[in-house]
Amino acid sequence: MTVEENTIKNTAASIQNQKRNGDKISMLTAYDYSTAKLMDEAGVNCILVGDSLGMVMLGYENTLAVTMEDMIHHTAAVSRGSKYAFIVADMPFMSYHTSVYDAVVNAGRLVKEGNAHAVKLEGGKEVCPQIKAIVDAKIPLVAHLGMTPQSINAFGGFKVQGKDEAAAIKLIADAKAVEAAGATAVVLECVPAELSKIITHKLSIPTIGIGAGKYCDGQVLVYQDMLGIYSNIAPKFVKRYAEIGSEMKSAFGRYISEIKDSTFPQQEHSYKIDSAVIEKLISEDIL
Ligand code: KIV
Repeated sequence: MTVEENTIKNTAASIQNQKRNGDKISMLTAYDYSTAKLMDEAGVNCILVGDSLGMVMLGYENTLAVTMEDMIHHTAAVSRGSKYAFIVADMPFMSYHTSVYDAVVNAGRLVKEGNAHAVKLEGGKEVCPQIKAIVDAKIPLVAHLGMTPQSINAFGGFKVQGKDEAAAIKLIADAKAVEAAGATAVVLECVPAELSKIITHKLSIPTIGIGAGKYCDGQVLVYQDMLGIYSNIAPKFVKRYAEIGSEMKSAFGRYISEIKDSTFPQQEHSYKIDSAVIEKLISEDIL
């Protein structure tokens, strides 16, 4: 399989053009320089510095403890690794809920200090004043609907959203509201595929699905999930493109045993010194 390399910069406008042209949008999460560099070289359209970093990088149980400082730190690293991808940074829990003013200030920090090209926040109609103000400040914004992890305590767990008629109607209304407020695109998480299809047809902005079926205009996955880094995490919607976790574990194990049995390092891993220098050190009894 060939890698489709990026040669031009992805932007808010180019992502929207992809929807118009029927060209599916690829998005992956990344949280550090080296992973972002590899994804960028592989040709991904968008990199999401998700607040999922709280769980997959920092070991928290959910995303609620993630701070603005965490997001800025990781977004800046990702942006140093990426030349072409459109970089979207998540606004963490409580960075936009308290007021429209706080939302604009914090979105601005992700752009100024983290070098993000856009920000993402969770919610529908209730956060439209924040979306409008951020977009008015010339910061592209990606909305996030369906299973929104920052609402885990309100939802009572990670559950598929929009399954009954009332919930489906609300989801469609929220999608239209965030579009009207100026969102560049909308992430749909854990939404039944047929409902995502309806939303995708009703919107002129792209839908990017995670657990939302094949009809979305694009797809996003958390990279640790799609690379099989953690053996105990296997959501239904994830396809594993590699088993990197077991590869890494086995490499770490071989390294440890080669140290123990002195098969590493060998001569090819060692630096040389002129033997005359060593002989002199020995003969002069310096050692
Ligand atoms: O934080 C994240 O990684 C996300 C994706 C799951 C869409 O919001």
